[in-house]
Amino acid sequence: MPEIFINGHSVQAADNQSVLEAARAGGHFIPYFCWHPKLSVAGNCRICVVQVEGRSWVEIACNMPVSEGLRVFTDSDLVKAHRKAVMQFLTLNHPVDCGICDKAGECSLQDYHYAYNGSPSVSREPKVRSTKFHDLSERILLDNERCILCSRCVRFTHEISKSSALGIKHRGDESLVRASEDGALDRDPYSDNVIDICPVGALLSRPFLYKARVWYLTSTPSVCPGCARGCTVKIWHRKPAWHLKALDPGQNASIARVTPLENPAVNGPWICNKGRDLAKILERPRAEEAMLKGTPVALPAAIDAARRLLGAAKRPVALVSSWGSNEELAAFKSALGGRLTAFVKEDCVPEPGERLEDDLLIRADKNPNTTTARALFAPLPGPAEPAFDGETDLVLVWGEGFAFTRLPPKAKIIFLNAYLQPENGHADVFFPVSVQTERHGHYTNFQGAVSAFEPCFARKPGVVDAVTVFAALAAGKAERP
Ligand code: SF4
Ligand code: SF4
Ligand code: FES
Repeated sequence: MPEIFINGHSVQAADNQSVLEAARAGGHFIPYFCWHPKLSVAGNCRICVVQVEGRSWVEIACNMPVSEGLRVFTDSDLVKAHRKAVMQFLTLNHPVDCGICDKAGECSLQDYHYAYNGSPSVSREPKVRSTKFHDLSERILLDNERCILCSRCVRFTHEISKSSALGIKHRGDESLVRASEDGALDRDPYSDNVIDICPVGALLSRPFLYKARVWYLTSTPSVCPGCARGCTVKIWHRKPAWHLKALDPGQNASIARVTPLENPAVNGPWICNKGRDLAKILERPRAEEAMLKGTPVALPAAIDAARRLLGAAKRPVALVSSWGSNEELAAFKSALGGRLTAFVKEDCVPEPGERLEDDLLIRADKNPNTTTARALFAPLPGPAEPAFDGETDLVLVWGEGFAFTRLPPKAKIIFLNAYLQPENGHADVFFPVSVQTERHGHYTNFQGAVSAFEPCFARKPGVVDAVTVFAALAAGKAERP
């Protein structure tokens, strides 16, 4: 545990730390572009320079090992002069694009310019032009004029996602980040992490391009339900103060983008592209009306009908959702667990072409809460040991993923689902239920880590929380006759 001194303040460093890492851990800020805590050290941007006591030159802190008694200065006149020179160099050919750049508001180059340079350009030469809006992949655009060649994106694909999809070709001011021509970036399910780690606005998300200035948005902590990893995410949506009045008001209650919510216990700083595309899952057309055999009814009428069916049933079975939250699953158990024989079903299975599993994040189970569901209820038996017998006269189906053709033909059906699907109209009683962006809850991932999600949008009119339905059915004294 070497003790080092940063600007005269004692910092207890860990063995093998760099000065940059020890400084960060000790609460001292040293700027960086190319360094990233999860990537190898490249040492190419030079913004992290510090001065060791007694030396008349500067050195980069990201590649300087700590040693007992080392004394460094992060704010000497020499350091300030070098940082300013580095910023002038990095912005020499950088376009003044901030007004139209999606990274504006989250850009280290912009922030460091004001912190460490702040002066107008001293160059009288025209800027070197480069490729704008280069198609790096189906999901990512690259603006080479904005790229500062930090190589973070390249290292990510070599060291983290292991697709080796990116490289830098040519030399000097001809250098260009480019994707390998075999389409590896398109096949990399983690590709969009390079957009987050690009310190400037060079890598652009095609779905998010020009969708919103980031200062119009706020984020809500959530959990990706795309697989049993349960990565923690930030769901970005418009701040109430910036709600649109003139344009489509649906934009005020829609997901603008999804980014990782760093979580060392679950996903570190990464998520996969399926997590970025949560809007495709959670913003499918919604069911908003309760129904009896396809005929819309008010919610109390649906509850009455479901109570009657449940009260009359002799051998009711429930297929419980592996997308239910811990709270919903516990509510089902306490309200109806004694009345129905419950089995856990898989709501989602892998889509064709979807990566099944890997050793980074992605899990084969494409449901977020199988762990809690199976802790409370038995798994759905296979064909050899069916969940239904000739006596099953009612099935409560909660969530997606179970074809009604597999249900006993004469059984009554109570169905809880969030999305518009043909099965909704075939159920004897249908309840349109809320999705996770409309309520609080927790999921437990395959390793037992519990993560919380918060609501970001109001429940749609006509939509009800599943726990309300469970409590209402239980309150109907729907006990076994
Ligand atoms: S595109 Fe971004 S992450 Fe990649 S080298 Fe350029 S600045 Fe760095
Ligand atoms: S690894 Fe699984 S939980 Fe994480 S973002 Fe991807 S689909 Fe979602
Ligand atoms: S952060 Fe140290 S050289 Fe880039």
